[in-house]
Amino acid sequence: MAPFSSKTKSPFTKSDNLLFDPALIPASIQESLPAGYVVRPLARSDNQVRSNSSFLKTLEVLTTVGTISDEAFQRRFQYLKEHSDQYYTIVIEDMNVPPTSAGSATSSSPSLVTPGRGKIVAAGTVLAERKFIHELGMVGHIEDIAVSADQQGKKLGLRIIETLKAIGQQVGCYKVILDCSEKNVPFYEKCGFERKGVEMGWYV
Ligand code: ACO
Repeated sequence: MAPFSSKTKSPFTKSDNLLFDPALIPASIQESLPAGYVVRPLARSDNQVRSNSSFLKTLEVLTTVGTISDEAFQRRFQYLKEHSDQYYTIVIEDMNVPPTSAGSATSSSPSLVTPGRGKIVAAGTVLAERKFIHELGMVGHIEDIAVSADQQGKKLGLRIIETLKAIGQQVGCYKVILDCSEKNVPFYEKCGFERKGVEMGWYV
């Protein structure tokens, strides 16, 4: 893989609220987003009930999410946090949205770097799998890419994939792979992927 920019300044700082260290997100990707949009790790506070603004709501463009209580969300977040060298879930947040009366959008310090002040519009994950082959090599698996329906076509999907590829590369993956439907092949080709192998599935 071609190297990504080593400049890794992020408008966010490492904190217990964030899933992983935001320094893994290249500044060059942050700078390429539309004005007022930020890319950051998933936050504990991203399970807001404000309509159309939470992380879970964003995933509904992809498939069924179901009803997930805040307690269940927090338990899952905590598991991922305890394995934060494996799970890298990111979101893009549109900070141009005015705060409403619900959720942490009412933060008393509505700084551009307060996660949850705006509206989550895109999400994705890269999972770092530790192998025995290739001298204990690591493979990145890209999963659950979603851009809100009203935000598609603004290169947010591309920025999500660029970020996940950069994270995979920085944590030591020798390749990053994904499964997708035929209709998304042109999108992933634009993101630098090529067809390899065949996807197989077994559903319980
Ligand atoms: N067919 C052809 N080209 C496409 C398509 C498509 N379906 N989607 C995007 N592109 C092209 C764009 O035209 C653009 O090309 P350009 O650089 O020449 O202008 C380039 O790909 C980048 O497009 P983005 O604007 O970044 O795409 P977007 O932000 O709309 O995100 C995505 C694409 C993620 C597929 C979005 O439409 C989406 O969320 N769809 C619903 C959920 C989904 O299918 N997710 C992917 C599941 S696969 C997985 O998770 C591993």
